[in-house]
Amino acid sequence: MAQGGVCDLVRAAAGQPCGFWLGSGGLIPAHEHNVENKTGLPLVHLGITRPEDLAPLFADLRGRFDEECACACDESSWKQFRDAWLGRKSGLLTQITDNWLKPATQELKRVVGQELNQLRAHVESKIEERRKAIEAGTSKTASARERVDLSLPGVIRTIGSHHLIRQVFQQIEDIFFSIGFSVVEGPEIETPYYNFEALNIPEFHPVRDDMDTFYLDLPKGAPQPLLLRTHTSPMQIRTMEKRQPPVRVIVPGKVYRRDNPDATHSFIFHQVEGLAVDSDITFCDFTGTIEYFVKQFFGPGVKTRFRPSYFPFTEPSVEFGVSCIFCGGSGSAAGGGTCSKCKGSGWIELFGAGMVDPAVYGFVKYDPKKVSGFAFGMGIDRLAMLKYGIDDIQVFFQNDARFLRQFP
Ligand code: DAH
Repeated sequence: MAQGGVCDLVRAAAGQPCGFWLGSGGLIPAHEHNVENKTGLPLVHLGITRPEDLAPLFADLRGRFDEECACACDESSWKQFRDAWLGRKSGLLTQITDNWLKPATQELKRVVGQELNQLRAHVESKIEERRKAIEAGTSKTASARERVDLSLPGVIRTIGSHHLIRQVFQQIEDIFFSIGFSVVEGPEIETPYYNFEALNIPEFHPVRDDMDTFYLDLPKGAPQPLLLRTHTSPMQIRTMEKRQPPVRVIVPGKVYRRDNPDATHSFIFHQVEGLAVDSDITFCDFTGTIEYFVKQFFGPGVKTRFRPSYFPFTEPSVEFGVSCIFCGGSGSAAGGGTCSKCKGSGWIELFGAGMVDPAVYGFVKYDPKKVSGFAFGMGIDRLAMLKYGIDDIQVFFQNDARFLRQFP
């Protein structure tokens, strides 16, 4: 519609007959338009001889201009419109200069000049105004379109998966949930009391040397030293302080030791602590529970064993092991020779455990004559490496997507 009007103007300017003219009510046949092609003829031919006839003629032109101007609503129609009115060679204002002003009689010339100047000022300012409006409008609509352009292809974000360590945590939690344990979590920054003393590890106990602890750099005058927990065992104490027996909890979490990184050591690793305390828990409950867990985790085919060990907070203490999951307990590798994983023994050590030492109950105000229980602490990285045949603990911390993707 808008372009119909502009095209007519362009044709009129080029001296061609106009087909249609855009009026406020729609398309008007050109021959009904009162200024149609008038600018192509000298004023005398239009029958204008008196100065007072000029004002209505120019007013008519201005009306026509205003009407058309409103219809130039995009860049290309605006350009056509501007050229139709201001084009140097054959724009309407040039036609007026050539056909009306130049041949005008002395009497008319001054008024034609005045009217023409006013019309030119009006035309130029309106055309510029229009240009700005179109520019602002296009950028506005462009940004609006960008915001809601539903035709653009969507951004497909790849869905990640849980890290293998988290998956193993989950598996272990599920197994213990199924036999009535619940999960508790505790602080990774601990006091020496919870990390050592209350676990029956006094200040000069040689076991502390094995733990290569990270102590925090605290300001002078700090009330007590703080450290990154070296194991999840402190949560045994924190739990028993808060709860009365029966207690059946596991504690998954991160622990820290000042170890140099290699294929089996990392200064940060993961543990799941376990604690069961009640009025009548026996050594049989303890071994039965651990055996149940190991068979659920590695499969029913594995055999378990425990051997005497030492931890300050359990008495007796044991080291739990499984028949080697790589060689099936035979001790020999598939291609002949000894199995490199169990070094031919057919057994793999899994984790430490034991019956809770009565001395520990003293720290949490449990009566050692009335309660008994067991505890265990497993290294999750080690369990994951054994179960999934991973031979370097460092891959858990490197976040290489090629590794992580293998455990969707
Ligand atoms: N806290 C011990 C460690 O990090 C592991 C451990 C051994 C935990 C025996 C226990 C346990 O609860 O009974 O080496």
